[in-house]
Order: sequence, then structure tokens, then C-alpha cells
Amino acid sequence: MLAIDLAGKRAFVAGVADDGGFGFAIAKALAEAGASVCVGTWPPAMNIFLNLLERGKMDESLALSDGRKLSFERIYPLDAAFDVLEDAPAEIRENKRYKERGDFSIAGVVKALQADFGERPVDIVVHSLANGPEVKKPLIETSRSGYLAAVSVSAYSMVSLVRQFGPLMRPGGSFLSLTFMASERVVPGYGGGMSSAKAALESDTRTLAYEAGRRYGVRVNTISAGPWASRAASAIGFIHMMIRYSRANAAMPREVQAPEVGNTAAFLSSPLAAAITGTTVYVDNGYHAMGMAVDPTALETGLVRET
Ligand SMILES: NC(=O)c1ccc[n+]([C@@H]2O[C@H](COP(=O)([O-])OP(=O)(O)OC[C@H]3O[C@@H](n4cnc5c(N)ncnc54)[C@H](O)[C@@H]3O)[C@@H](O)[C@H]2O)c1
Repeated sequence: MLAIDLAGKRAFVAGVADDGGFGFAIAKALAEAGASVCVGTWPPAMNIFLNLLERGKMDESLALSDGRKLSFERIYPLDAAFDVLEDAPAEIRENKRYKERGDFSIAGVVKALQADFGERPVDIVVHSLANGPEVKKPLIETSRSGYLAAVSVSAYSMVSLVRQFGPLMRPGGSFLSLTFMASERVVPGYGGGMSSAKAALESDTRTLAYEAGRRYGVRVNTISAGPWASRAASAIGFIHMMIRYSRANAAMPREVQAPEVGNTAAFLSSPLAAAITGTTVYVDNGYHAMGMAVDPTALETGLVRET
């Protein structure tokens, strides 16, 4: 039987702070396939996340199909805006949600992983985080600092992750990120430079695949996911409209489910995908392939049929 077998592998998933997003679904799928999973959590969201876990509020979502329970091997504080702790301004370092957390930079996570598990502790790294402080503003109204903040956290952080985690990866290692089709087609409302950040992330996936492939023998891919009402997506404000639109107009008229993204991530992170790198993989029910929306008025005329 051909199965995704990640037994003996360790994954680090950056961007998990509840059980509602793609990062959680990916962590769960990797665990289903046998990997041990460490996560990186944004310090401002860490207390709530730890509380939910401790109080058993996530037990249902943590249940694995064979009766085991997903248990994160480590939960590291991570603010992906900072490559090294010295880059964080004093007001962040002294903020009460950061102060107790030690080194929350990308370099800090690298050091902690090596201290906990040795020189080359990781096989799989997943980047499942994004932030655009001005996401609700159209691009044309986005400030320079808002735009640069979106690109810094949502795209440059992947460059930094690959550079800093590359030397930690065991042979056959895999990097993966999450992108959205607003990088290549207009999605009104996905503003603040987030569309630009996703375009950068996808372009960088190709260049990083080449550079890190030659340097570290690892693969780099990105999943372009259809809309899903995670906490981050719900904050944009019109996610349910996007889901409805995508369901109506995708090649397969159904909603994308987070576990489908998780399963694709597990496959891409596994030896089964050994020859796949530098690629954007769509998990969107084929929405990206469509050239024209299904227009209800055209359907009414009878000149156009749904299939
Ligand atoms: N939900 C969708 O419709 C959708 C579609 C396509 C792609 N994506 C992408 O999927 C990825 C995961 O997002 P999600 O929608 O599952 O939401 P989510 O809320 O589960 O994940 C976003 C995570 O990013 C974290 N984060 C924000 N700023 C951070 C920082 N500076 N450092 C570290 N972590 C930070 C948040 O705490 C959160 O845990 C993102 O890259 C997103 O753009 C989402």
C-alpha cells in the first residue's frame, strides 16, 4: 500500500495559535503520518493558545484517527518579523506579552531547537503565517510602512526561515509555505500589500528552491489554498463571501476544507514528493483554472448552461 510515512521525522510548523487555521490542519496531518510536530506561535497569541490546550478546550480537534492525541513536542514563541532578537525594538521586547518569552526571533527558535534536539533536528518546515496591518485598505491607499510590514512578515520571513533553518535540515528536507491566488489575479478587498506579499512569496519559492536545493539539498514549495474562515481570514471581513463565490465558480463546486490542505502538505513534505520543488500547488477545487465567473443572469437566459 502506498502511504505517506513520516515516521521518525520532525516538523516545525510556524503560525499555529488555535485549531482553526491551515497551520493546525497541517500539523495534524503531519502527525497522522507519523511525524513529531513542534510549532511556532506568535507571542501575542501564545497565552490564549496555551490556556486552550491546558484546559482541554482543543481535545476534540487534537484527536487523531487511530485514537492517539496530537501533542506538540514543543511550542516555541516566534515573531517572524525578527531575524534576530536585536532587531526587535525595545517597546516590543519590553511588552508584557513578549518579555517572559526569551528569544522569540527566528534565530531564537533555531537555537532552541538545536539545544533541545541537537545539531540537525528538523526534516520539515512549514510557514503558515501572514500579517498585513493595512489589509482592509485598497493597495492604492496603503502606506509605505503598511506595505513593507505585510511583505516583511508574510514573505521575507520565508527567506529568513529557509536561510536559518537550511543548515538544520536532515537529508530530504522540505520547506512549505501557504499562498493565495490574489498574488496573480485581482481579489478586491485583499489589500494592504498582502497581494504583493503573496506574489513575492511565490516568486521566492522558485528562487529559494534553486538556492536551497543546491546549498542544502532541500525542497521548497508553496500551496495556493482556496478561501477558509480561519481567524486571520475572518479578520479581513468578507471571507464568507469569498467562500460562497469560490464554491459557486470553482471547477469543483464545493468548499475547500482545511484537512485537504493538511493532506497536500503532508504529501509535499514526504519522500513521495522527492522530485517536486519550486512549485505552487493549488488546493482550491480548481478555481484558479477558471477564466469567467458563472453569471446567474446568463444562466437564466438558457444560452449558457452550468455544465
Ligand atoms: N484562510 C484563507 O482563506 C487562506 C487562503 C490562502 C492562503 N492562506 C494563508 O495560510 C496561512 C495561514 O493562515 P490562516 O488563514 O490559516 O490563518 P491563521 O490565523 O490560522 O494563521 C495565521 C497565523 O499567523 C500568525 N502570525 C501573525 N503575525 C505573525 C508574526 N509576526 N510572527 C509569527 N506568527 C504570526 C498568527 O498568530 C496566526 O497563528 C497564511 O499564510 C495565509 O495567508 C489563507
